[in-house]
Amino acid sequence: MPDLQGKVVVITGGASGLGLGLARRCAAGGAKLVIADIEAGALIQAEDELSRAGADVLAVRVDVTRQEEVDELAQRSLDRFDSVHMICNNAGVSVQGLTWQQPYGDWQWVLDVNLWGVLHGIRAFVPHLVAQGEGYVLNTASNTSVTSRGGMSAYIGSKHAVLAITECLQHDLRALGSPVKAAVILPGLTRTRMADSHRNRQSRYGHDRPSEGALAPRRAMVEEHGTAPDEVADRVLSALDDGRFYVFTHPEDIEMAKERLAGMLSGFLAEASTSLQALIPASKAAP
Ligand SMILES: NC(=O)c1ccc[n+]([C@@H]2O[C@H](COP(=O)([O-])OP(=O)(O)OC[C@H]3O[C@@H](n4cnc5c(N)ncnc54)[C@H](O)[C@@H]3O)[C@@H](O)[C@H]2O)c1
Repeated sequence: MPDLQGKVVVITGGASGLGLGLARRCAAGGAKLVIADIEAGALIQAEDELSRAGADVLAVRVDVTRQEEVDELAQRSLDRFDSVHMICNNAGVSVQGLTWQQPYGDWQWVLDVNLWGVLHGIRAFVPHLVAQGEGYVLNTASNTSVTSRGGMSAYIGSKHAVLAITECLQHDLRALGSPVKAAVILPGLTRTRMADSHRNRQSRYGHDRPSEGALAPRRAMVEEHGTAPDEVADRVLSALDDGRFYVFTHPEDIEMAKERLAGMLSGFLAEASTSLQALIPASKAAP
């Protein structure tokens, strides 16, 4: 783990899953924390847990799709701790559906949280990090940023964008001669509440809730095969300590990236795993 003693780490989506795992591990390393999340109840519980474990923690209810709320998050973090050393743009949501059928509300929600949320975080915090002359920008993309499959255009499109933007950000920082570092997490399957993302869907995107029939196998798959978020957080911090930019949390995902690249170089799209395609509800699969 990088030396986080006394450093200030801000984590969006910090009330659950990978964000909370990162918060726990950063706190164990001596960091002060700002956890930001849209889900008020989970945020209070996470704040309570982290402060009982001895962390100095500020919890802020934030909707990352709102630029002004993310700007205010940066200001409140600085007001409380005077400095920020790491911004983890981690909040994310997922939906499934066929590319041409998925309602616009789904597309807008996923792109607003997963893409614009990250961009708002970059714009709100990077000027401070650059002026300070140190810090990290850690963006959570996905193992699906390096591959593709059916039923997940909106999510996978958003995560490809996060990967590309983080690469470009690191190029910008280098061009500026800034020591601030960017890195991108490409998590593999992690035991979180991602299958239940709709719990935080804002009403302005419509209420297209997945059916229980579609949710049950997704929850079961995550429960059965997902890695614990604290373990994934350990792998992330260890990769940062090694100076890595691309943070694969599951080594097997590197093979997916190789297969994708081999397909691109040969000019043919590789077959995708069908496991997620099988989860598309039959009613939605009809053209
Ligand atoms: N779980 C996995 O297998 C997996 C795999 C690849 C990538 N990821 C990514 O990891 C990140 C964390 O997700 P997770 O798996 O821990 O899921 P999770 O649902 O447990 O946590 C996501 C958090 O983001 C918060 N959030 C949602 N919308 C928000 C908004 N508008 N503003 C602020 N906070 C908001 C949620 O309240 C929740 O606390 C996401 O970016 C996700 O895409 C997860």
